[in-house]
Amino acid sequence: MTFPLPPLTSIPPEIAALTDYEPLARKHLGEQAWAYFAGGAADEITLTGNRSSFDGIRIVPRVLQDLRGGHTQVNLLGRTFAFPILVAPIAYHRMAHRDGEMATVLGASAMQAGMVVSTRASVPLEDLARNAVAPLWFQLYIQPDRGFTEALVHRAEDAGYEALVLTVDAPLNGIRNRMQRAGFRMPEGVEAVNLRGMAPPDLRPRTAGESVAFGPLLDGAPTWHDIAWLRSKTKLPVILKGILSPDDAALALKHGCAGIVVSNHGGRTLDTLPPAIEMLPEIADRVAGSMPILLDGGIRRGTDVFKAIALGAQAVLVGRPCIFGLAVAGAVGVAHVLNILRAEFEVAMALAGCATTRDIRPEHLRLSEAAMESGWRSVPAAATGAPRAGNGPG
Ligand code: FNR
Repeated sequence: MTFPLPPLTSIPPEIAALTDYEPLARKHLGEQAWAYFAGGAADEITLTGNRSSFDGIRIVPRVLQDLRGGHTQVNLLGRTFAFPILVAPIAYHRMAHRDGEMATVLGASAMQAGMVVSTRASVPLEDLARNAVAPLWFQLYIQPDRGFTEALVHRAEDAGYEALVLTVDAPLNGIRNRMQRAGFRMPEGVEAVNLRGMAPPDLRPRTAGESVAFGPLLDGAPTWHDIAWLRSKTKLPVILKGILSPDDAALALKHGCAGIVVSNHGGRTLDTLPPAIEMLPEIADRVAGSMPILLDGGIRRGTDVFKAIALGAQAVLVGRPCIFGLAVAGAVGVAHVLNILRAEFEVAMALAGCATTRDIRPEHLRLSEAAMESGWRSVPAAATGAPRAGNGPG
């Protein structure tokens, strides 16, 4: 794998926000890797909506609050995190930097941020665990070969990962037009090393004219039955990632999951899925207080973190910005991205009058006129102070 530019060794002073990384990252990644990381499915309506929905929410501050002793700590699965921002699982970091996930883990550790390592990481999960200071969770894709999946789970457990994040929204890949147009091909030397040795599933059509989707590919895809199977194979808490329906959130709870990530996979699976933040209030109404809720998709500002917490999340995951920081300046870039977001979040809390994340309430939010006209109705109900379930565990 070669890169158009070497990573920087210090952060240019003109980078003051996460989005400032994007033009630089594009230069460091080159067009194909940029298309892979930045793109979304089909017409990218979900990808665009992930951002615009945050922009349509306004923060209503409270003044003259006593903020002494304020902090951003949260408790997730019995562990205290310094702030409620974790690195989202993203495949193939070695496509962004020669050290791949190792640099990301070092950057996250420098900031004491949790990180979710992808099944499709390009550095072995054990090597990452050995170098991590901050807590690691392992993102699991259940493979058609359940025996291999079980062995992978035990590897993560033995290496010290603290939770399994089971991604349930991507049994098929979305069609990524941006990647297709860039003529994307997997670069030499980058692979899903944790899946080495797994027999590739037999995807040959069994009959002429067989369906593209409902063929051998989906035959091995997990269902709700696999949650009980997975829980019987591991002591680790299982968090479901990719929940958008309140009914599925309730099912996750019923199946004994320890938490959920409200997510549309960064707009990369089925286009026109709703932005996760738009589904969050309804989901929080159903399960908040019973299990931690995390959210991802479009988090680019500390104010976005604030809004997600106000609508019922306990924490957020950040995806592409970490990759862009990694591409531009390796571990230092990742740490810088997390540091900007953390600092912005603290400022948002202080200026909105919140000393702890528990003080961040739906009453702090209003929808813009434009957002209300766009038909996003569920948030005003939650955001005008209508009673709803509590903000869950700290
Ligand atoms: C992802 N995502 C993802 N999710 C997952 O569970 N396992 C994976 O291997 C990947 N791989 C992956 C690759 C790339 C290039 C992207 C952009 C995303 C989804 C990811 O965890 C997260 O849901 C989104 O990235 C969040 O949106 P933002 O923060 O990128 O807007």
